[in-house]
Amino acid sequence: MSFEEEINKRKTFAIIAHPDAGKTTLTEKLLLFGGAIQTAGAVKSNKIKKATTSDFMEIEKQRGISVATSVMNFTYKGLSINILDTPGHKDFAEDTYRTLTAVDSVILVIDCVKGVEEQTRKLMEVCRMRDTPVIIFVNKMDREGKDPFDLLEEIEKTLHISVKPLSWPIGMGSDFKGVYSIYDKSLLLFEPIKKAGDHNSTQISNLQDPLLEQKLGKRYANKLNEDVELVEGIYEPFDESLYLEGILAPVFFGSGVNNFGVKELLEAFIQFAPKPKGRETSTRSVKPNEDKLSGFVFKIHANLDPKHRDRIAFLRICSGKFERNKFFHHVRLNKNVRFSAPVTFMGQNKDIVETAFPGDVVGLYDTGNFKIGDTLTEGEDFYFKGIPSFSPEIFRELVNIDPMKAKQLEKGISQLTDEGVAQLFNVQPGNRKYVGVVGELQFDVIQHRLTAEYGASCRFQPLNISKSCWITSNNKINLAEFLKRRANYIAWDKDENPVFLSDSEWTINLMKKEYPEIEFHSNSEFKT
Ligand code: G4P
Repeated sequence: MSFEEEINKRKTFAIIAHPDAGKTTLTEKLLLFGGAIQTAGAVKSNKIKKATTSDFMEIEKQRGISVATSVMNFTYKGLSINILDTPGHKDFAEDTYRTLTAVDSVILVIDCVKGVEEQTRKLMEVCRMRDTPVIIFVNKMDREGKDPFDLLEEIEKTLHISVKPLSWPIGMGSDFKGVYSIYDKSLLLFEPIKKAGDHNSTQISNLQDPLLEQKLGKRYANKLNEDVELVEGIYEPFDESLYLEGILAPVFFGSGVNNFGVKELLEAFIQFAPKPKGRETSTRSVKPNEDKLSGFVFKIHANLDPKHRDRIAFLRICSGKFERNKFFHHVRLNKNVRFSAPVTFMGQNKDIVETAFPGDVVGLYDTGNFKIGDTLTEGEDFYFKGIPSFSPEIFRELVNIDPMKAKQLEKGISQLTDEGVAQLFNVQPGNRKYVGVVGELQFDVIQHRLTAEYGASCRFQPLNISKSCWITSNNKINLAEFLKRRANYIAWDKDENPVFLSDSEWTINLMKKEYPEIEFHSNSEFKT
């Protein structure tokens, strides 16, 4: 197969959802279609259940599961499809945001009963930052949910994306009859069954086809006719280019657990979803079909065996061909590195890969050489844009409680923050260390890992900070003046960028008014 064909057959995406909307179930059904797993239940949910948040072993176990399912690959109709898993728990949201930098598109699952939920909104904000194409799957149609028109309006309003339903539900809950594909004019009748490939669709020539009434009965046939007429009146015809630009999301309805509407979703996905795209770097844009390798690390995961402090860095390949044992250029460290055992993951199996292509993700064993955002090339120096850190929401001061282990603590917190578990800020005077996280649970994880992996002991002291912004200004004198006048509220991130710490959004807004020449950034994107 030619290099170009290898690229064209790859589609790399993530399924995103508020916890419990049905992401794991849908992932599993897709893998069943692709023959990547044989039985239901093979994909463990990586949910960290509320009741177990204080149980470290549970956290560790869950982390193990999430490493195992970090990247899942299956083949469907000759295409090689990579699903990048995203942690469901909100305390690991930052990990999810970063994973989204490594995909070319997403499928967003929405529970038809709950509608748009908090995590859905946050995840979509991240997708919009990168104009990631989105397909929406409205799940759990076998339950009594919101009216589909109301739901679509809610999606458009709260997620700021236009939608176009490509299928339409007929009834819902106990009266759910099936879906009509507006796209290919077929009728899919609902039966609550769970095996892959078991639903048969009925092709109808148009909505007046007598077959429709025969299959649905007069009442539902009439209602479908009215609904579809309304849909066509409200929504513009589907424009694929708007989907690819991240402006318009096609919507499908179904029921993951009943394996209903999943095949239709997959068919649409393989038809529309983009192949690996070009990416912007600090010097130029890189095209996937360039012959030289380039890729970036978007996730680092500590290995579970505490005896070996090695980690796995996940590299998204953007151009060229990755080969085992070949030397590549680690841009930040300016040194050549090679990998004798790069891996891909599937369930509990880690397989060594010999070669990988744009769109693929490989796991690289690492003893501390990698940081999130690091780039590998074949000699050129650049960084990929668009791998931001997000400003944390919860801050605590890290306090060493074992003076004999200060060095271990320093090293441990530095490495854990390289992994992206949390963000570290230095505060002067006194070289104090503030740790910022997106979710509370991270403090437990850090404390536990510092003890288990580095032999260090610490405690976290609460701080009256709930917002932080990176600050820049084109006017260096004004910036210096701001840093001096607000010195008590300034911290420095690991790359020595100044950060303004504040107790509220209100204070930040006040600062913006008072210092119009200073720019306040809620993610680190401005660095690239
Ligand atoms: P998540 O990964 O997004 O967190 O969600 P997950 O797939 O684990 O699904 C959450 C719950 O919703 C599960 O039930 C799952 O069976 C159920 N579910 C998924 N799709 C559908 C659907 O189409 N219809 C209905 N009615 N339920 C659906 P659970 O009780 O939490 O777990 P389980 O014991 O069923 O595995």
